[in-house]
Amino acid sequence: MKNKFPPDFLFGSATSAHQIEGHLNNDWSRWEKTPGKISDGSTSAVSADSWNRWRDDIKILKNSGQNAYRFSIEWSRIEPKAGFFDKKSIAHYRDMIDELLKNDITPMVTLWHFTSPLWLDDIGGVLNRKFPTYFSRFAGRMAKEFGDKIELWSVLNEPTVYLNAGFIQGNWYPGKKRQYFSAVKAFFRFIAAHKQAYTSMKSANSRIKVGIAHNMSAYFPVKDRWRDRFMTKFTKWFTNEYFLNQIKGELDFIGINHYLTHHIQCKKPIIFDQIGKEQDYWWPVRPYGIREVIKDAGRYHLPIYITENGLGDHGEADKLRGRYIEEIFEQLRLTLKGGADLRGYFFWSLIDNFEWASGYSMKFGLHTIDRKPKRSAEVYKKIIENRRFKQSLL
Ligand code: BGC
Repeated sequence: MKNKFPPDFLFGSATSAHQIEGHLNNDWSRWEKTPGKISDGSTSAVSADSWNRWRDDIKILKNSGQNAYRFSIEWSRIEPKAGFFDKKSIAHYRDMIDELLKNDITPMVTLWHFTSPLWLDDIGGVLNRKFPTYFSRFAGRMAKEFGDKIELWSVLNEPTVYLNAGFIQGNWYPGKKRQYFSAVKAFFRFIAAHKQAYTSMKSANSRIKVGIAHNMSAYFPVKDRWRDRFMTKFTKWFTNEYFLNQIKGELDFIGINHYLTHHIQCKKPIIFDQIGKEQDYWWPVRPYGIREVIKDAGRYHLPIYITENGLGDHGEADKLRGRYIEEIFEQLRLTLKGGADLRGYFFWSLIDNFEWASGYSMKFGLHTIDRKPKRSAEVYKKIIENRRFKQSLL
């Protein structure tokens, strides 16, 4: 490994439609209206208004030196009624994709980022037996429309996180608590949805690469003793590997969403994190975990992208985020040096946005909602400009 990033390495950031576009009418936007669901009482009604301001988003991508953008195409806009595909919305996304390409920004597209159209919600949402069929029809259509312009598709975003938050913790839509049976049912629906989408997308355009944005936390044993090591292995298998193992035959790349690093022990509490003062909210800042998850994903022998990584930092000075990015890139340097097939990195997120049940209280952006760059955007820009690992570390 030389001292520079590979020439075609993608340096981007990520967003999702529901979190930035505003003006949506899907299952989440209906749910948000019930008081008490969103901690700061807000809704996604306008959010960052990217449905109207997408050109500004492309400008800030360009100004911060990025060459890639991961975003989602909102299913409820494209197919507002079952089987009816809205030409205007398709044209809207086409304009946006063309503008990205004109600016030499490689798009990566997600087709399901936690939200579904109302017509699907009305018949049971992701639990409906036909969810995989409906989803693959939509996915196939998108591959047909945009497959000549977009190569990289991180089709489903974090199904396992959604299952936990929506069916077990109950703090996300559909707001069910401890519904283990439904969670398992939905788990298998997502597997079928991915597999069927893979087939329909590939038959629409065989050149595209179909992947996933899969949440992978890093786990380390609290102590180097067999029971902690066993528990760590089990947790990893259950949360990171099991889903991937089911779909590995239908994957062209692995997208990793990585945020958390935990220390595991074989007694309660299983997660034994000594959380330092450095964190914002309850998220520990531990950049070293990213290497571990890339190493684990390497066992599948597929190209790897970091499809999301970042942290909530609501401090005015934006201190944690800038330092975190630097440390993360030091970890990526070591990973690449070790021979990992890592092709790109997408920071979460381009702009502050609607952070699901936390509303606007958690801030993940390199830019404010008014598109003003924060200090961390400058840090990221410098790393990209140099395309170089830190001199002192070579
Ligand atoms: C999700 C994003 C979310 C981010 C920060 C990921 O789980 O894909 O939608 O905003 O984490 O919480």
